[in-house]
Amino acid sequence: MAADTIEEQLVSYLTDAHSIEQQAIAQLRAAPKIAGEPQLATALRDHLAESEQQQRLVGERLEAHGGSPSKLKEAVMRVSGPAFVLFAKSQPDTPGKLATHSLSYEHLELASYELLGRVAGRAGDEQTVAVAQRIRDEEAAMAERIEALFDATTEASLAAQEPDDLTEQLTKYLADAHAIEGQAEQLLQRAPKILGAGELAPLYTEHLEETREHKRLVEERLGALGAKPSKLKDAVMRLGALNWGGFFQGHPDTAGKLTAFAYAFEHLEIGAYEHLKRVARRAGDQATVEMAERILGEERTAAQKLAGSFSAATDASLRQQGVAG
Ligand SMILES: [Fe+2]
Ligand SMILES: [Fe+2]
Ligand SMILES: [Fe+2]
Repeated sequence: MAADTIEEQLVSYLTDAHSIEQQAIAQLRAAPKIAGEPQLATALRDHLAESEQQQRLVGERLEAHGGSPSKLKEAVMRVSGPAFVLFAKSQPDTPGKLATHSLSYEHLELASYELLGRVAGRAGDEQTVAVAQRIRDEEAAMAERIEALFDATTEASLAAQEPDDLTEQLTKYLADAHAIEGQAEQLLQRAPKILGAGELAPLYTEHLEETREHKRLVEERLGALGAKPSKLKDAVMRLGALNWGGFFQGHPDTAGKLTAFAYAFEHLEIGAYEHLKRVARRAGDQATVEMAERILGEERTAAQKLAGSFSAATDASLRQQGVAG
């Protein structure tokens, strides 16, 4: 592998950030119309303007390094952006799904700017460090706004269903959680191949064990509610329609991309269990409420640990690209 310079890596991280914003903008243009919950629609609309500004800021830094934002692969982004919205629209509980996927996407952005800021620091580009910090904070604030809407998005999702049988709804949320854990398992299993034997690997193997336990706990609740196996298959199909690989521009190939991807995925799980918990509460199923709370604690801890690994992941990525430390 030809060794990259830190300057080339910085341009590559800026290019990725620019693409991620491009995709965010495509999503945010379509999302408010289907949000199905007025506060969520407003939050998404406001964040569109913010994201356009973010993309401009990143584009300026790219130009300062001789890059040309207009030559970026926008066509690819235009395809994958609306796919996310189509996915949410295809779900029977659009507001909750959209909130969950938005939460995940904001954390993908947050992680990307954490990495970009570190690479810019290594390259001695203080202006890019400042831009990355500013945008990172905006993504974090948007993520918090979305989290604060989960009561409303759960209610809007249930109202759209006119649920006469809440248990029926609950089994759907459990089946979705089961499908997400299945994908988490696959992602975490792949991690050691990307990471090698370094300090980062144990984080993933430990959470893989927890993930298998989560899957088992969810199966237990599905069994207790008498869910048919076909529910699980339907949920896998629903999640498969999102095409995570395409959504995140192919499989992550470096420690940094894997960390950002895994961090975003933890928040997909967090969003799913936050909604599951609320539906279980409405259905009066205390055992499922307690299970969701327990799993939520572990997902949030896993996410925090991943956030704690941003520096190590940046260093590992730069080493993987042949940039001398
Ligand atoms: Fe953004
Ligand atoms: Fe964002
Ligand atoms: Fe997880």
